[in-house]
Amino acid sequence: MDHAKKSSGPIRPAERVRNVRYAVRDVVVMADRLRKQGKKMFYLNIGDPNPFGFRPPAHLIEAVHRAMLDNRNGYAPSDGIEDALDAIRVDSKRRGIGNIVHTWIGNGCSEVIEMAMSALVNPGDNVLVPSPGYPLYTALLAKLEAEARPYQLDEAAGWQPDIPDIARQIDGRTRAIVVINPNNPTGSVASESTLRAIVDLVAEHDLLLFADEIYDRLLFDGAKHIPMGSLRQDASVLTLCGLSKNWLVPGFRIGWGVLSGLAEKLDPFAEATRQLGRARLSANHPEQAAIRPALEGDQSHIAALNHELVQRRDLAMGLLNRIDGISCVKPEGAFYAFARLHDVQSDGDWCRELMQETGVVVVPGSGFGQRPGTQHFRLVLLPSLSIIEEACKAIGSFVAASRSRR
Ligand SMILES: Cc1ncc(COP(=O)(O)O)c(C=O)c1O
Repeated sequence: MDHAKKSSGPIRPAERVRNVRYAVRDVVVMADRLRKQGKKMFYLNIGDPNPFGFRPPAHLIEAVHRAMLDNRNGYAPSDGIEDALDAIRVDSKRRGIGNIVHTWIGNGCSEVIEMAMSALVNPGDNVLVPSPGYPLYTALLAKLEAEARPYQLDEAAGWQPDIPDIARQIDGRTRAIVVINPNNPTGSVASESTLRAIVDLVAEHDLLLFADEIYDRLLFDGAKHIPMGSLRQDASVLTLCGLSKNWLVPGFRIGWGVLSGLAEKLDPFAEATRQLGRARLSANHPEQAAIRPALEGDQSHIAALNHELVQRRDLAMGLLNRIDGISCVKPEGAFYAFARLHDVQSDGDWCRELMQETGVVVVPGSGFGQRPGTQHFRLVLLPSLSIIEEACKAIGSFVAASRSRR
């Protein structure tokens, strides 16, 4: 019998991947091509502090090094090592999060989000996601054949979540609301009254709240971060955090989720996340040794980092808001700014042309979601002051030249 099958074309990828988009990395393909052609590039697209010279606190590295030398290199328990889970629970309680039902560690906050979303939604369900917001949520929901339903952040109100828009969009198939605070890409910090209103909606409609607080210690000008899980002990909240941003080790791939609320409501969902956790064995093991030292050790790098970020933010705001045709709400946390392009038809085309002409790499607003009819771009505030200055000036010249051509 002849088992050889005639070649009938390429290996067909699954349909579900078609709508999975991640703009932050998508622009890199073109940027790398230009760099290989010899163009000087200014990478203001990726929220990764290390390539820009920021170094993590040494005690985290020492803890991981010790774990590796002690041969803690096997698989970890699926939820994570007990010492780290305990440190996370203690830190969460200190922040006012009571009623903790389940805590687990993943390969980055990204994996925790993916596990939680996979354990929650069925095809056809919907989840309310901030627009603009971090694109992982929409990418994941596309993969799970569920609907990412954008709710607006109000640019005129410093990018605060629009509560009536959230309330209006909840229906019988809504399973969760995602809040990113401080927000990526806008750098905004939500007010207590806004957060309370969202937590009330979550409790009222029996939803799960994804409180993505991975930037919760990167705050400027005295801005205050309120953990959403601390606002109402009967609301179902998954607080998401990790080492990538506050502790400057995104390459460790360590994040965690703290599920809080009423156990009788959350137990089946918690068990579903455990089931998924067991199927993937465990998160990175030696890197989990850095969690307790991160949460309980010296925190002085955070003040130093925030100081650096404020300088970069002030420089970028001064230069960008001076450009005729651009306006930018001042970020109060995280390390991004989301600038509005007035009189531009397509931010995707604009970013491509900007990159080709000036070498400046920024991400189109459409990659994060934005109010229909508006155009934006996100820039990262991590590069050195001189690079930010050069890049913002190049943006100014590019805008002026395109205006004079019109
Ligand atoms: C809002 C937000 N959530 C989650 C993540 C993913 O973090 P991790 O590196 O822990 O997977 C990011 C990364 O940029 C982010 O901006």
